Amino acid sequence: MYGLKRGLFISFEGIDGCGKTTQIELLKDYLIEKKYEIIVTLEPGGCDIGKKLREILLFNKSFVSDTAEMFLYLADRAQHVEEVILKNINEGRIVLCDRCIDSTVAYQGYGRKGNIEQINLLNKIAMNGIKPDLTILFDVDIKIAQKRVGNIKDRMEKENIEFHKRVREGYLELAKENPERIKVINSNQEIEKVFFDLREIISKVI
Ligand code: TMP
Repeated sequence: MYGLKRGLFISFEGIDGCGKTTQIELLKDYLIEKKYEIIVTLEPGGCDIGKKLREILLFNKSFVSDTAEMFLYLADRAQHVEEVILKNINEGRIVLCDRCIDSTVAYQGYGRKGNIEQINLLNKIAMNGIKPDLTILFDVDIKIAQKRVGNIKDRMEKENIEFHKRVREGYLELAKENPERIKVINSNQEIEKVFFDLREIISKVI
């Protein structure tokens, strides 16, 4: 195994149906073949407490207030960082994380029209002093994304098209504000071409 002194923390972002989960799996196999130590994790749901929070966040049938929703995502993050991410980075692994801080800004900030300054501050607290070294944003047209999501939808996916448009715009705004950290890939392309673009970006950091 290649021993990275401090591991690497890479997050993957995009609207529902952007294809990130498929790409993370492809990248995992690719990096394992290259003998890197990898851990794939996700938010919400990357630890035991997080799995319970994910169930509430995505499948709760009764009313969830926007503020409660925000805090539940942040609670998942705080636990996940402490229990999973920090440990694996410190042990030299590459952490591939399906969603992280930018999801809360995009969904609870832009999507739900929450206070972005507050979210940034709460994200900082939840992250316990760390940040993704690199973030890949899979950008995709809303219509293509909705087709990929299909008919069985969770609580967030059920939100209307205007919500998902705001989330996408929010992500693109974040990428503009953080050009060093957030790299955008055109995810309207074929899976193979998206993965080609992903490898190009990843090869510059490892
Ligand atoms: P996914 O794991 O299938 O991508 O689903 C997670 C859903 O939760 C997705 O709709 C995005 C949403 N989400 C937020 O709204 N805020 C967050 O902070 C995170 C991590 C996810």
